[in-house]
Amino acid sequence: MDTAPTPAEVTAVPASTGRPYVLLSCATSIDGYIDDATEQRLLLSNDEDLARIDAVRAGCDAILVGAGTVRCDDPRLVIRSEGLRRTRVARGLAPSPMKVTLTARGDLDPAARFFTVGDAEKLVYCASPAVDKTTELLDGLATVIDAGDPPAPDVVLADLAARGVRRLMVEGGGTVHAQFLGAGLADELHLVVAPFFVGDCRAPRFVGDGRFPWHPGRRARVAEVRQIGDVVLVRYALSERCDAG
Ligand SMILES: NC(=O)c1ccc[n+]([C@@H]2O[C@H](COP(=O)([O-])OP(=O)(O)OC[C@H]3O[C@@H](n4cnc5c(N)ncnc54)[C@H](OP(=O)(O)O)[C@@H]3O)[C@@H](O)[C@H]2O)c1
Repeated sequence: MDTAPTPAEVTAVPASTGRPYVLLSCATSIDGYIDDATEQRLLLSNDEDLARIDAVRAGCDAILVGAGTVRCDDPRLVIRSEGLRRTRVARGLAPSPMKVTLTARGDLDPAARFFTVGDAEKLVYCASPAVDKTTELLDGLATVIDAGDPPAPDVVLADLAARGVRRLMVEGGGTVHAQFLGAGLADELHLVVAPFFVGDCRAPRFVGDGRFPWHPGRRARVAEVRQIGDVVLVRYALSERCDAG
């Protein structure tokens, strides 16, 4: 059962230096698109890879997606495998990790599966001006946290750390991935490449234009390359924490 926000919880979160280990996960087409331009969700991974993602999720304390992904994909963000859920419970954890989203506008549908599926705790980091509206809209379905204006990823991470999140999986979309990458707040990137092209510039790419800590003069380190059925997983180590993680 989720906890409704109390007035004490709906206050600006403090910045601090501690942050969880941050693992970014994304699937793209060969030409770097993370979706197509249609209303329907584009399936990029295959079943074997989705099972791998399930296991990676199960090893995390929280899963974060942007409000755009909640609106577009309506993801459940729960552990699908009964065995993985049981293992988590045996370790004293909730069956599925905490769900986390970020919003500036607060325009979230309370009927979205993010809020309605599973018993995991749900956190909504919200820009200050939209906190009251969002708290009312979600009516106890999630804890709405004032994350400042505009909310900054490092502030969100510090608050998650204070709530006991040691390992965070960020599952997109592109806007959110770009912020964590651009701010140098990612320890590891799992990039899955599906064996087809989208070929439509109206579709979203993994990240848009920006300045990133990894560029031709500072190349990221490949930690692993793995073929999973017809897709390829590349694991990039983006910080020195990656090996220890
Ligand atoms: N292939 C994959 O692995 C994968 C994974 C996930 C998603 N996707 C695709 O990605 C697309 C969605 O990506 P997107 O870039 O549009 O959306 P997104 O990154 O999921 O979410 C962007 C939204 O998040 C909120 N947000 C982000 N940063 C914020 C901040 N610092 N402070 C406050 N709010 C913040 C804003 O919400 P408000 O608008 O509410 O203010 C913003 O519009 C969809 O097509 C989806 O299918 C693909």
